Amino acid sequence: MIKYIDIIAIILFVLYSLIFFKMNKKKKNKKKGLVKYIKVILVFLIIIGMIHVLASIGHKENKEEGKTTTTTNEVVTNDIEESTTTEVTITSTTTTARNTSGTFAKINHDLSGSEDRGKTSKGYSIQVKNGITYIDGYMVANKTYSLPSSFNPGKLDSVVSSAADKMFAAAKSEKGYKMWAQSGFRSYSTQESIYNRYVSNDGKANADTYSARPGNSEHQTGLAFDVCSDDKPCITSGFNSTPQAKWLSENAWKYGFILRYVEGKTDETGYKYESWHFRYVGSELAEKLYNNGNWITMESYFGFDSKYKD
Ligand code: DAL
Ligand code: ZN
Repeated sequence: MIKYIDIIAIILFVLYSLIFFKMNKKKKNKKKGLVKYIKVILVFLIIIGMIHVLASIGHKENKEEGKTTTTTNEVVTNDIEESTTTEVTITSTTTTARNTSGTFAKINHDLSGSEDRGKTSKGYSIQVKNGITYIDGYMVANKTYSLPSSFNPGKLDSVVSSAADKMFAAAKSEKGYKMWAQSGFRSYSTQESIYNRYVSNDGKANADTYSARPGNSEHQTGLAFDVCSDDKPCITSGFNSTPQAKWLSENAWKYGFILRYVEGKTDETGYKYESWHFRYVGSELAEKLYNNGNWITMESYFGFDSKYKD
């Protein structure tokens, strides 16, 4: 890559050559002068080369930093789910074909070649492809169904982020609420550090009631996120009683989202109530699960459980 330093070098090189040859014209010992000239050029080229090497090392380090998940607003209390993470950009491999019939349509995962694993207790298909479980075509990550550590869509699915943008815009225009997706996609390793931190602060049994083990978090799917609102408690039970949480609970389904960890349904979901965690399923299923305000969990609707084996 040509850098400014190269342009400066070329200019200096030309100037030096012009001056040298002009001065050397009259001198008798032209050969000696030429050797000196070549020596100077070589030293010059070595310096430029060293600058390039140093610059490329710096660039590589910056790139590595950019790839890591950055904690920007970490809040550690027992009932807070997780730290804030920025998203890395890696192309999703799971969502290939999309249903275009509605704005907030179900995401159609390409399940060709998947293994058939029978039916749920309510008769919905269980399929596994590349270690990922799909129930009635919906990707599932809970305590029973884990994701492989290698599954890394890298960011929220674009369908999910654009639906979220519309939901947040509606909250702003209808109510003046300023909300955003604070923690969206989380890689296996990010979840591992979050979960391990909770275990060391709060013990495994407690951590398991509000934080998923690595591989079991819905955040790894790229289909779920946690909402924050300005001047409100963020990703904590303090958010539960806010008008923003109420608005989300009443309106998220319109944008294809479900309140995933419903109040009083810990037996089904495996987790405490999380008024801030929303997962995309498309508005058709979201409306059914919304159930006129009496939220049904995915586990109950489809008939599967959420329990660790150990
Ligand atoms: N708080 C949810 C369960 C998670 O850690 O994914
Ligand atoms: Zn969450």
